[in-house]
Amino acid sequence: MALSGLRKIAASQTLLINEQSQLLEKNGATVVRFGFGQSPFPPPENVIAALQHYAYRKDYSPVQGLPELRQAVAAFHQRTDRLEVTEEQVLIGPGSKMLIYAFLACFDKMRVLVPAPAWVSYAPQARMLGHEVLAIPTSFAARWRVTPDALQQVLRRELQDSRPTCLILNYPGNPDGLTYDRKALKELAEVARQHGLWVISDEIYGQLHHQGKHRSIARYYPERTLVTGGLSKWCGAGGWRLGTALLPATKERGIRATMLGVASETYSCAPTPVQMAAITAYSDAALEKDYCQPQREILSLLGKECVHRLTKAGVQLHAPEGGFYLFPDFEPFRKQLAARGIKSSDALCHALLHEAGVALLPGSAFGMVETSLTARLAYVTFDGIAALEAERANPGGAQLTAVIAPVYEGIERITTWLEGM
Ligand SMILES: Cc1ncc(COP(=O)(O)O)c(C=O)c1O
Repeated sequence: MALSGLRKIAASQTLLINEQSQLLEKNGATVVRFGFGQSPFPPPENVIAALQHYAYRKDYSPVQGLPELRQAVAAFHQRTDRLEVTEEQVLIGPGSKMLIYAFLACFDKMRVLVPAPAWVSYAPQARMLGHEVLAIPTSFAARWRVTPDALQQVLRRELQDSRPTCLILNYPGNPDGLTYDRKALKELAEVARQHGLWVISDEIYGQLHHQGKHRSIARYYPERTLVTGGLSKWCGAGGWRLGTALLPATKERGIRATMLGVASETYSCAPTPVQMAAITAYSDAALEKDYCQPQREILSLLGKECVHRLTKAGVQLHAPEGGFYLFPDFEPFRKQLAARGIKSSDALCHALLHEAGVALLPGSAFGMVETSLTARLAYVTFDGIAALEAERANPGGAQLTAVIAPVYEGIERITTWLEGM
């Protein structure tokens, strides 16, 4: 019997698929795990050394974050994305997920516009806070991007009262690996300004733009954009829990104080030793070339090759521009799949796991309609330490090919499964 009064909040699907894969493996099966989106790369050595060195720093730090770190983060964004941010605007927290939640918690009743597809946690977070969630449809043809037209349409239909409205954008994107160009960002900024929207710009994969050309919407709409980032992806340190938020540059007072209020009443501060290590990560400009660049080369090469192989097999997908995800659409196989009773992304991923031994996450977990035949593929099933070493020694060479081979094995499992249909 369900416990009375218990809220309906399920564990994130990303974590569940990992558990299912583990169970199959325990029973002797081999599973290529494309389900869990964790960076395969190790944090930079000097950043690990800093964390070890500062383990003794046991005191709470200021709620907003250590001043030296806030300075380093502001300087980092001025240097890498040409954002005009001050250290006063920087808020440090235990992961950007928590900072997104804290921002949403600043408002009483809000409309939250979430693209479909989008990362799994936005909608549940908004609902937990009692906000209304509205989906913005996208399409394969529009590269799964929010278009100004689609945004205008939703706004025209839904903006009937004075509740605040927040648009969430994520680029390079999870689950699609795609981003927005300058023109698209400017157009979206214009629509946002016209309607006074708040924007959460989740740029956690910004440093992993494959060409190193990430650009933030905050350049065009600084007054109401919250930019989130952190060490989880570009520094391979998800478990360290260090997130950053750049607060909107609004002249309206209150956002900063409210965010700090939410922070102080919930998590208090990010771990102090991790903040000390993060100072090194954000200040060492050499990491851009020695650490980020090889990661980008590997992810770009691997992403393109996976797309090439899957496209050749008849799957619909776009080559990724950043991060480490692909969002294959098996729509061209709808008829054959339906003949086998597979009519949803859930059924598709179930079959891929149990028949092909490949774990992908269903498009439905990212807000796609049940009948969509999309799935998210995280191409990170390789040894990141060995890959970085190989890339540094001989960029794109045979040694790297050998290290990333497990990813191709998974792709082959998918294409062989499709051939057999
Ligand atoms: C799009 C997106 N945003 C935010 C996060 C959470 O990042 P953090 O570890 O900083 O909380 C993730 C993690 O998977 C993500 O994919």
